[in-house]
Amino acid sequence: MTSLDVATATLDVAAVRADFPLLQRRVNGHPLVYLDSAATSQKPQQVLDAVDNYYRLHNANVHRGVHTIGNEATDIFEGARTRVARFIDAPAEGLVLLRNTTEALNLVASSYARELLSPGDRIVLTEMEHHSNLVPWQLAAERAGLELAFLRVNDDGTLDLSGLDELLAPPTKLVSLSHQSNVLGTVVPLRAVIDAAHERDVLVCVDAAQSVPHMPVSVRDLDCDFLAFSGHKMCAPMGAGVLWARPELLQRMPPFLGGGSMILRVSLEKSTWSTVPHKFEAGTPDVGAAAGLAAACDYFDAIGMDRVHAHEQQLTSHLLSLLEEMDGIDVYGPHDMSARGGAVSFNVTDVHAHDVGTILDRQGVAVRAGHHCCQPLMKRLGVAATARASVYLYNTHEEIDALGDALAEVRRIFR
Ligand code: ALA
Repeated sequence: MTSLDVATATLDVAAVRADFPLLQRRVNGHPLVYLDSAATSQKPQQVLDAVDNYYRLHNANVHRGVHTIGNEATDIFEGARTRVARFIDAPAEGLVLLRNTTEALNLVASSYARELLSPGDRIVLTEMEHHSNLVPWQLAAERAGLELAFLRVNDDGTLDLSGLDELLAPPTKLVSLSHQSNVLGTVVPLRAVIDAAHERDVLVCVDAAQSVPHMPVSVRDLDCDFLAFSGHKMCAPMGAGVLWARPELLQRMPPFLGGGSMILRVSLEKSTWSTVPHKFEAGTPDVGAAAGLAAACDYFDAIGMDRVHAHEQQLTSHLLSLLEEMDGIDVYGPHDMSARGGAVSFNVTDVHAHDVGTILDRQGVAVRAGHHCCQPLMKRLGVAATARASVYLYNTHEEIDALGDALAEVRRIFR
């Protein structure tokens, strides 16, 4: 099969759905329609089996053992590191296995920004960031005397890059921004931002929590300096998160957490650190979750991320058309499919998003409602909350239609 065939071949959604036990459930008397994958994804049997296999046959602590099972556990953990690095096309020595995106971004804010930047240095963020790509920088700025500045969001939900050149001027040292907004679905033209930043010797940290699970992402092609994402949004267990950073940056950064596994020598007064990336992995890691994350990478590579992405684009296009055809629904975020992915926020006129979510749930349709950990973006949109439907590889056109029927019921109840 040529790459063109792969890109255009459609996903066998029925076969995919058969891999996901939870999707066979009924909720409130209806077949479950799970449209909340931007919050967390469901897990295929292949991932559940990898976790089960680890705990049944290979469970032991890592990097410590002289015994066989300990060495097997270490091989599984280190194998997961190289597997995940291959998935994002990145050198494995820069891949730190953590708990989630939030921890990864806190690591960069604490160890890089707080410790290696100087008072008066500037960090550029955007108005559409998740709290996890906002609060850690606020903490670092407060403690190290750094300045924060922000790229704004246009009315159509795209990122306003008109002020980028000015914001990249000294004293800016770092830009940290999401690849794809968890609220608006907006996909940021990252490569252009990264090229412009590097021309000014400014580093770029990418919150890829909503992109690595949904599209092919190559760290080598992006040429970013830091990239963070979570396994649980890409069919892996909760508790497996990733920070990739240029190894030379990790070398310069001091440890984030201290403890076992991250040291070379310890005396009562002072310690020296292990090599990169182990220096950033204090304590016993979640080996089972790492095994599940490696299995998720296998699962996605067998299907092809380009095919996953194409399927989501079709579903999102259908969802946007359906919402636009209904009266009394406001949709937020770009309508142009080339500028967005599959997280779609909306409100039903005069109905609170939580009421929308509750009535949809009664019909078996799971969406998220609230501020989505993006209070500044809610303020920009002029709303307290939105309902959000988000699609993934296992969703179908019929499920989007089921959401439409359930929304018609919301409108009937609140007429
Ligand atoms: N960040 C996740 C979301 O957007 C939890 O739902």
